[in-house]
Amino acid sequence: MTTSRPSLTRLREEAADCRACHLWKDATQTVFGEGPAHAPVMLVGEQPGDKEDLAGKPFVGPAGQMFDRALKDAGIDRGKTYVTNAVKHFKFVPRGKIRLHQKPNTPEIKACRQWYERELATINPALVVAMGATAAQSVFGKITPINKNRGRLIDLDDGRKALVTVHPSYLLRLPDEDAKAHEYRRFVDDLRLAAAHLRHDKAA
Ligand code: URA
Repeated sequence: MTTSRPSLTRLREEAADCRACHLWKDATQTVFGEGPAHAPVMLVGEQPGDKEDLAGKPFVGPAGQMFDRALKDAGIDRGKTYVTNAVKHFKFVPRGKIRLHQKPNTPEIKACRQWYERELATINPALVVAMGATAAQSVFGKITPINKNRGRLIDLDDGRKALVTVHPSYLLRLPDEDAKAHEYRRFVDDLRLAAAHLRHDKAA
């Protein structure tokens, strides 16, 4: 019997040689998604950062620590989720010894969307969580403002639900501690909605 695990493995192998845009040239490697082959929820970030580029795994750096903490506070076990990025190569400009993150542009997001679509088809999650503007653009196939759309479940054309929220890096960048605490609570509240939907979906 063919299971989807080998096909996810094959997808990962194919993506390792992706040349659909120029970002592969400077990145260390393709950072593909990670998680169980039939995870009920797929969480989508923007692109790997410096640490992820080196490790070859999504959300293992500072944003990943924030993400892990928020998932835990929302009652979601990361090990039961599939975590990926809209863009699978690290885009940066070198500044001395540092590699400074650069936001991916629309052609780069579009070039990489095939991998998101193929991950989605393989994992077949009931719910997709888009974290930040780049992820939302990939998930909805168009520019989708975060604040106008966050905090509620949205129907996707393929029958799945989507949830839009901020990117965990946004929380790291907030200079004010009160704002940081407030925005963190909002982020966790959004993830709690995802957790509630998953419980509801499982019970149905
Ligand atoms: N930011 C992302 O969007 N994804 C990662 O994997 C790490 C940081």
